[in-house]
Amino acid sequence: MSATRPAARTSLVIALDGASGSGKSSTSRAVAIRLGLRYLDTGAMYRALTWWLLRQGVDVHDPAAVAARCGEPEIVSGTDPTAPTIVVDGIDVGTEIRTDKVNAAVSPVSAVPEVRARLLELQRAVIGQGGIVVEGRDIGSVVWPQAEVKVFLSADPSARAERRAAETGSIDVAGTQESLLARDRLDSGRATAPLTRVDGAVHIDTTPYTLDEVVEQVVALVGAGPA
Ligand code: DC
Repeated sequence: MSATRPAARTSLVIALDGASGSGKSSTSRAVAIRLGLRYLDTGAMYRALTWWLLRQGVDVHDPAAVAARCGEPEIVSGTDPTAPTIVVDGIDVGTEIRTDKVNAAVSPVSAVPEVRARLLELQRAVIGQGGIVVEGRDIGSVVWPQAEVKVFLSADPSARAERRAAETGSIDVAGTQESLLARDRLDSGRATAPLTRVDGAVHIDTTPYTLDEVVEQVVALVGAGPA
């Protein structure tokens, strides 16, 4: 942590929900750095569990098999926004969790109620220490509904695909958009904790804005909020 960073407002929790490519990760990390808060990427936890299940040879389309094994791996999230980490049974999987294989398997895994219950417990333990920006799909609705600031980010599908393709170095923007939209449908349509915008969340459509502009808007909400 940098010595010049402002002191953390230790009870403050900022919930930042939205679909992939909406600018959630970059915005969350930048806001955390600006405000001297920790950062938790809950999507990385779902990805890490998915990576582990694939590695174990578990059929990710069999909810009973996923439920039976999902409690086994130890999953530890490092919350420094300048260098977040995700470690499964002692292995740093920061790179492995971003592969196409994990992208394709993470939605069915995250629809399994036992998976959500397990990760919810881990997430609440981290968030309970306070002073954190948390990004995900269900943070404002389920994980931490009492968050002082709730934001819901969206962006046009083409803008999201372009950003995601730039991040991953892919030249297949159309293919990236197709896979994003397929994941959206699954994440929004599942029975348990679907991606949804809750009452009280401020909606920011990031399509016309730069990252810095979105960060400014979120930081301004904190200033205006009750925390
Ligand atoms: O934000 P992301 O693309 O890294 O998330 C990966 C997947 O994890 C996403 O397709 C749905 C799931 N997820 C979830 O169900 N709930 C969360 N709070 C975060 C992610």
